[in-house]
Amino acid sequence: MAIRNVREMGEDVLNKKCKEVKEITPRVSELIDDMLDTMYDASGVGLAAPQVGILKRIVVIDVTGEDPYVMVNPKIVEQSGEQTGYEACLSVPGKTGVVTRPNYVKAIAYNEKMEQYEIEATELLARAICHELDHLDGHLYVEKVEGALMNSEDVEEEE
Ligand code: NI
Repeated sequence: MAIRNVREMGEDVLNKKCKEVKEITPRVSELIDDMLDTMYDASGVGLAAPQVGILKRIVVIDVTGEDPYVMVNPKIVEQSGEQTGYEACLSVPGKTGVVTRPNYVKAIAYNEKMEQYEIEATELLARAICHELDHLDGHLYVEKVEGALMNSEDVEEEE
């Protein structure tokens, strides 16, 4: 268990397509544990492996602070509706912007034991799944921002 260095926008590793995980080796287990530690340490709601410099299809998400999802080789299989709201990313510190995402997604993924599961999500969890899965294909939310990328401090003042 360790906190890993979070890569920031501009680093090549954030713009690459990640590879599927074939098996949960001890190194992969350690990576998953470290990703959870790193996400909680940074008070994030999600983290993708490329954000810690590893090009594997793994994300961790926890929108409530007590219910983590480990998603290995995740795929969105259904989506519907629309939600528009502020989004942020640990790799783009201090910034936020408005992004439209589906309001509902159904995804399949494998957990940390390589057992397949299905997840249905709405609202913030659906947004987090879309955001984190984009990372696995080398995309950051800033590509989808409507209007300007803003300083998160300014937005907090508005509210
Ligand atoms: Ni992100």
